[in-house]
Amino acid sequence: MIKVQDIVYCIYRSPDLDKMAAFLTDFGMVEAGREPNRLFMRGAGSHPVINITEKGPAGFVAVGMLAGSAAELDEAAKLPGASAVETIDAPGGGKRVRLSGPDGFRFDLVHGMEPAKELPVRAPLAINYAWQKQRVVDLQRPDFEPARIARLGHCVLKFSDGDAAVRWLKGTLGMLVTDRLHLPDDRAKTLGTFMRLDRGERPADHHTIFALQGQPGDLNVHHTSYEVQDPDAVHIGHQWLDKKGWMAEWGVGRHLLGSQVFDYWRSPDGYIFEHYADGDLLTDKVQPGDYPAIPENLAQWGPELGPHFFDSVRL
Ligand SMILES: [Fe+2]
Repeated sequence: MIKVQDIVYCIYRSPDLDKMAAFLTDFGMVEAGREPNRLFMRGAGSHPVINITEKGPAGFVAVGMLAGSAAELDEAAKLPGASAVETIDAPGGGKRVRLSGPDGFRFDLVHGMEPAKELPVRAPLAINYAWQKQRVVDLQRPDFEPARIARLGHCVLKFSDGDAAVRWLKGTLGMLVTDRLHLPDDRAKTLGTFMRLDRGERPADHHTIFALQGQPGDLNVHHTSYEVQDPDAVHIGHQWLDKKGWMAEWGVGRHLLGSQVFDYWRSPDGYIFEHYADGDLLTDKVQPGDYPAIPENLAQWGPELGPHFFDSVRL
């Protein structure tokens, strides 16, 4: 049985790789390789590539998830619409199977990629809390720099039938339901479902995929989200992106479900990229929650949600 154990990369398409590289660099990634038609970006963590951009009309191509074992790739290759086991032609190499998910979303199951040497980032800030002092004769001086990305944390996709997508993510990828959001006036109607990795006792993020109910004609990625060092990095990163002239979407705030300190930005092609820090970790024993989709359940604090947040693309 397949049980994905991590999220590794996402693949976008963009007409202008230079512009995408400039945005992702200001966003806090590091170039890991470049070909005439492909851009490879990494974070500071051990995944050799976390964001791939292929040259072409703007779009979302795939999300790459780590299989539990090499044997799971053989199992995946037998699924309807799956590719054979292929060699990955990207930094880190390894093997993959391309799966055709709900609404044709491509999920790459990967295994055996060579881990990259981690890049240096500043240490997490020691905070002098009112009743808990941690720093004496030790000045607080975080650099003004992009929010250094550690890793890809999660991906939000809009499906034509969100409940069916959840069944596929559970049945085919072995994921668990963490929390469901339903329409405030109709408990039976799902707005979206937060899905996490089943790692047993080993902690997993509150969500790795969020399956959002989409509208016909708008089945797209909603956003991809990247973990940074700490809340100061989110705020400093916000200022950095603002100074560089990129388009802010929503933030800084703190989510309720997942508890992340979040900040959302638009890429040159209008897609949302999120920074986050301090998210919840859960084990496999946590039972699913069910919440009405009201603003109070989206954020505990932060600016008011703008009218464009749910638009897949905004230019
Ligand atoms: Fe997110």
